[in-house]
Amino acid sequence: MTQQPQAKYRHDYRAPDYQISDIDLTFELDAASTRVTAVSQITRQGAADAPLRLDGEDLTLVSLEVNDAPWQDYRLDEGALVLENLPERFTLRIVNDISPATNTALEGLYQSGDALCTQCEAEGFRHITWYLDRPDVLARFTTKLIADKTRYPYLLANGNRIAQGELDNGQHWVQWEDPFPKPCYLFALVAGDFDVLRDNFVTRSGRDVALELYVDRGNLDRASWAMTSLKNSMKWDEDRFGLEYDLDIYMIVAVDFFNMGAMENKGLNVFNSKFVLARAQTATDKDYLDIERVIGHEYFHNWTGNRVTCRDWFQLSLKEGLTVFRDQEFSSDLGSRAVNRINNVRTMRGMQFAEDASPMAHPIRPDMVIEMNNFYTLTVYEKGSEVIRMLHTLLGEANFQKGMQLYFERHDGSAATCDDFVQAMEDASNVDLSHFRRWYSQSGTPVVSVRDDYNPETEQYTLTISQHTPPTADQAEKLPLHIPFDIELYDNEGKVIPLQKGGHPVHNVLNLTQAEQTFVFDNVYFQPVPSLLREFSAPVKLEYKWSDQQLTFLMRHARNDFSRWDAAQSLLTTYIKLNVARHQQGLPLSLPLHVADAFRAILLDDQLSPALKAEILTLPSANEMAELFQIIDPVAIAAVREALTRTLAKELADECLAVYNATKLDEYRVDHADIGQRALRNTCLRYLAFGDAQLADKLVTTQYQEADNMTDAMAALSAAVAAQLPCREALLAEYDEQWHKDGLVMDKWFVLQATSPATDVLNTVRGLLNHRSFTFGNPNRVRALIGTFASSNPAAFHAEDGSGYQFMVEMLSELNSRNPQVASRLIEPLIRLKRYDEKRQALMRNALEQLKALPNLSGDLYEKISKALA
Ligand code: ALA
Ligand code: ZN
Repeated sequence: MTQQPQAKYRHDYRAPDYQISDIDLTFELDAASTRVTAVSQITRQGAADAPLRLDGEDLTLVSLEVNDAPWQDYRLDEGALVLENLPERFTLRIVNDISPATNTALEGLYQSGDALCTQCEAEGFRHITWYLDRPDVLARFTTKLIADKTRYPYLLANGNRIAQGELDNGQHWVQWEDPFPKPCYLFALVAGDFDVLRDNFVTRSGRDVALELYVDRGNLDRASWAMTSLKNSMKWDEDRFGLEYDLDIYMIVAVDFFNMGAMENKGLNVFNSKFVLARAQTATDKDYLDIERVIGHEYFHNWTGNRVTCRDWFQLSLKEGLTVFRDQEFSSDLGSRAVNRINNVRTMRGMQFAEDASPMAHPIRPDMVIEMNNFYTLTVYEKGSEVIRMLHTLLGEANFQKGMQLYFERHDGSAATCDDFVQAMEDASNVDLSHFRRWYSQSGTPVVSVRDDYNPETEQYTLTISQHTPPTADQAEKLPLHIPFDIELYDNEGKVIPLQKGGHPVHNVLNLTQAEQTFVFDNVYFQPVPSLLREFSAPVKLEYKWSDQQLTFLMRHARNDFSRWDAAQSLLTTYIKLNVARHQQGLPLSLPLHVADAFRAILLDDQLSPALKAEILTLPSANEMAELFQIIDPVAIAAVREALTRTLAKELADECLAVYNATKLDEYRVDHADIGQRALRNTCLRYLAFGDAQLADKLVTTQYQEADNMTDAMAALSAAVAAQLPCREALLAEYDEQWHKDGLVMDKWFVLQATSPATDVLNTVRGLLNHRSFTFGNPNRVRALIGTFASSNPAAFHAEDGSGYQFMVEMLSELNSRNPQVASRLIEPLIRLKRYDEKRQALMRNALEQLKALPNLSGDLYEKISKALA
């Protein structure tokens, strides 16, 4: 690092001194050296003596002209080209060279396999040319791509193709024009040779849109699901949000080398191939649903992100939180709403809450950023979506949609802030959101504690609800939030007791706004069982002294699927906490029979959907369990998780086998009912794997051998690894032999290897760094093997001898110079040292000190390490 990276503050926002109305780009594409010519129309809008500071990184300047004459009045600063004494309006022509082939950070223009592609969000465009690389500068782009015709037969950029031609030296060119002004982070180009899946979509106003999906040659048989998902997305956004697509063409390109999931570049999405490619033999049900979700997400950005973009990067949740909300609603409308909600809540509780408790804690709209790439977080995305969902809960669908319309009326074609969004919601609905806005500025996870009291004489039921947000690394002082708190009361037969007060009905969503509030309900004719925080109506931790009886009652009687699942979670929580303490005292697992019986009843309940049964029977992950504790004991948690699994496996063995045998499907179809049935059957297989060893080995081997789809094959293989069945080595070898040429398919195998409970798992992981399918250059491989080990095998990563930490020091030292964004994602588990005992803390601190001393430490890692060590 040449100098310490500088923090930027939200409150320092200033409008730019110059605006760029148009930019015409020409790329003479070549992997080793690409020449970029950028011709921009620039107008000064600040003070007459304001210099023009253009962002640029790793660029070689060839020439510089203002109004067609060479310009001398400039200097090259660190990360910037500074021009002075400029006229008020001018044409700026910059020619510079860049080197895609050596761009291992995968930011800007880089090489993915044999193709060239770009990633510009957040600040990648400055790796392409000098520019005002900030989202509040919106320009019309035209792009001319020139390249070798054999190597790069397809030349793609944003907007519509307006011209093309041949050159005599084996080269060709294509020119693109995007009529919608956009910030440069939405710029994209792709050059390469592909197979193309073509289709079309007629919008509700009758416009015909060409749809083109570009995949590596030979992968056409894995492209159709993504295309179906795209058409479903376009239709859904019209039906639910009244939003229509606005260009004549929509292109998606799948690339193997990509730092993120996908990118919503205007008219030309670039996707991690993980979120495009699927056929039954290579992709699991979860992969299919993830593809549908991410295709939807990027498509929905066309309105929430592209038509209305962010004023500055602190406002990232304006587009991401809102677009995640939209993709969650899309998935819920197309599939199971309850299962989607459950999985979103698992992510919040297991991962976002952990981020709140980490050195990187930040509000959904951060106040201070060193490296913007570090803020593509669960907080900005997932909690951001929860904040939008709370707005939706408070306003209702009709008012929420009115708010969306007003938001577009006011801000279409411009760059907006989170405040602008909330203002539109407030103005459209007349709901007072002044207090609610605090969710944007306050970080951390509120704890909502509930006490209740029933008076049979007066038939009054009283809820006393208090809220408290513990301090976070970034903010010591916290204030009460506006929390929508959804409740329901049940009588002894499971009937809903209507909420009323003084003869008037009371809405089931209570408004918590103060540190403590009391709610009294009349005519409560029976001591009620309360269902609290229904649908996870706010991203908070709930504290209430549940009895087992109340929870097993809710598991059976709650009207709402999510509540039944949540009651099961709370019941498990009780016994996870109890047994972790017992394990620490050297005592064996203790689980009363009525707990196993409650799960048995779920398995046998004909009224419940198989998908929901599978969710209820799936134990919380080790990470979800960890969030139940202030100080995490990863070894005890792993032991309790395994013992709980074995105990339930033993108790439910007969039922699991019966369900397993009764639920086999004859053929594979991606259909929500079938997905649910497979999930239940494979959940049963998982328990069976932890039961009688001989039977388990046979069932698992047979399922693996006979599977005609990846969902069942993977379920068998992962059960074999999790339960350490004798068949596992042979099955893993068979998989490797079959798939080793296919990196995406091998990622699942690397994940399994990395999450193995075997005591020598770290040696295995180290050995796999030399596997024929592994490469440090591909972020998917790195995340699957190294990232998964660190994030999802806590018992091994936190091994008491510090071997897991030292391994990460080696891996991160390598990745720091190669790909800082990927390194920065992988370091997360290591910076959360305060959650562990002193011995582990010391080892983790030592690992972080080693990394801090790296001679070329990236800003990305610097930000996290310095916060962790502070
Ligand atoms: N903007 C990209 C997304 O959709 C990273 O999440
Ligand atoms: Zn997004």
